[in-house]
Amino acid sequence: MISIAKPVIGEEEKQAVLEVLDSGILAQGPLVAAFEKAFAELCGVKHAIATSSGTTALYLTLLAHGIGAGDEVITSPFTFIASANSVLYVGAKPVFVDIDPRTFNIDPQKIEAAITPKTKAILPIHLYGLCSDMGTIMSIAEKHHLIVIEDACQAHAARYNGKCAGSFGTGTFSLYPTKNMTSAEGGMVTTNDDAIAEECRVLRNHGMRRRYYHDELGYNLRMTDVHAAIGNAQLQKLGKFNQKRAENAAYFDAHLKGVVTPYVPEGYQHIYHQYTIRVPNGKRDALRDYLKEKEIGTEIYYPLPIHQQGFYIEMFGEMKFPESEKAAGEVLSIPVHPSLSQADREMIVGTINEFMV
Ligand SMILES: Cc1ncc(COP(=O)(O)O)c(C=O)c1O
Repeated sequence: MISIAKPVIGEEEKQAVLEVLDSGILAQGPLVAAFEKAFAELCGVKHAIATSSGTTALYLTLLAHGIGAGDEVITSPFTFIASANSVLYVGAKPVFVDIDPRTFNIDPQKIEAAITPKTKAILPIHLYGLCSDMGTIMSIAEKHHLIVIEDACQAHAARYNGKCAGSFGTGTFSLYPTKNMTSAEGGMVTTNDDAIAEECRVLRNHGMRRRYYHDELGYNLRMTDVHAAIGNAQLQKLGKFNQKRAENAAYFDAHLKGVVTPYVPEGYQHIYHQYTIRVPNGKRDALRDYLKEKEIGTEIYYPLPIHQQGFYIEMFGEMKFPESEKAAGEVLSIPVHPSLSQADREMIVGTINEFMV
């Protein structure tokens, strides 16, 4: 079976975890601090704040920016549920804007029409590892005095015009095992803003600035040194992992037939967290079944846009976002992870082409 995702864990990660277990410091300690420093350098920002997951990185960021009840946050409905749920956690309202069908990311041309006096932030998602159109989004945000929170959970070291994902607004990352790098579970917030970084650190640790003096309602959203040990080792390998994914993607771009391959606009560096094709003419599910028969794993990210999830309909009523709905019916992610062999790549291409052409 060629699996859709496969974390690459080597001796370095194993050794690093054993060292932490022997050290006596298991929870947040010096390895988390080292991981934060290295991650900030990777993204080209002043601060990185480690969290327990990508979801809690989003939650912490929204809290630190003071977003809450009565506020609206503009985002895309074609993403993992956590992007919009984090907005609900702080009592704010996610306001959806449809996607650009070529990139699967929020369509910046449609953002201004969704801005109201209640809008506090824009939360673009860099889906599949391709940055959103950050140039346009940052100028809209500046014009309307809005905060920008990047959901870069799938975009470790993806670039837009040379700048890293997570370095435009406040960035949020996931380190879940299927991501381009992992810490088992974990997340990161990235920012150049000293005050936001400080607020994230305080809220992450029960609102404490001085030991056992709690200035505000805080939480436990910390990462452990066990997780940071894995994360540090993975960070050293991210460049190689991303390179291998890019090579796999280039092979698929050159050889796949009868499907729409990922679109990468000029000036963007895609990191292929997913290699997602569009399968036209209602053939997606049949192709998926055929690939499964041939022992090739695939996944649909995501089969139901967020505005069509039951509890969102209950809360906000019926909404229509035609491009997101169309994409949900056509997308199929195929294996692109760094462990694919040449034989795997040939098998994947051969099987898809055989079915589609
Ligand atoms: C786009 C997006 N946002 C948020 C998350 C949440 O991250 P985590 O699973 O680490 O909580 C994910 C992870 O799957 C994601 O893909």
